Amino acid sequence: MAIERTLSIIKPDATRRNLTGKINAKFEDAGLRIVAQKRIHLSPAQAGKFYEVHKDRPFYGELVEFMASEPVVVQVLEGENAIAKNREVMGATNPANADAGTIRKEFALSVGENSVHGSDAPETAKEEIAFFFSGLELVG
Ligand code: PPS
Repeated sequence: MAIERTLSIIKPDATRRNLTGKINAKFEDAGLRIVAQKRIHLSPAQAGKFYEVHKDRPFYGELVEFMASEPVVVQVLEGENAIAKNREVMGATNPANADAGTIRKEFALSVGENSVHGSDAPETAKEEIAFFFSGLELVG
């Protein structure tokens, strides 16, 4: 099985409610290792750039405003099939559709305020990790 890295963001609805530790425990219990992590407050321009792929979708403005509203924790998770494993641990985008035991089922408030982001494919993981971290910050 391939060892992969994926980019994870603990979103403002979760940092605001002090859920970083509980969410990190879910990652670690699933065998994902946190090899980089930092708490930052995105500017609207930075959040807009990160979510540029969604710029034509009706919720883009709301998403950018939310992601820049309060601090986030950005992190790199490493492990076997980390991209798919992380998406499994997160659960469906809309918490109403998320399986029991997933982060979004337990903690998300809505499809927008859904507590976590995770890369969806190897190419996007590479780009998203490089968006937030330099090679020196990745400690495997
Ligand atoms: S997915 O997983 O990319 O297929 O999900 P998608 O539905 O395309 O959503 C992409 C991201 O947009 C967020 N989102 C919203 N934000 C605010 N309001 C509404 N209505 C809304 N719908 C979707 C969703 O949380 C996804 O964020 P990320 O950070 O990529 O998970």
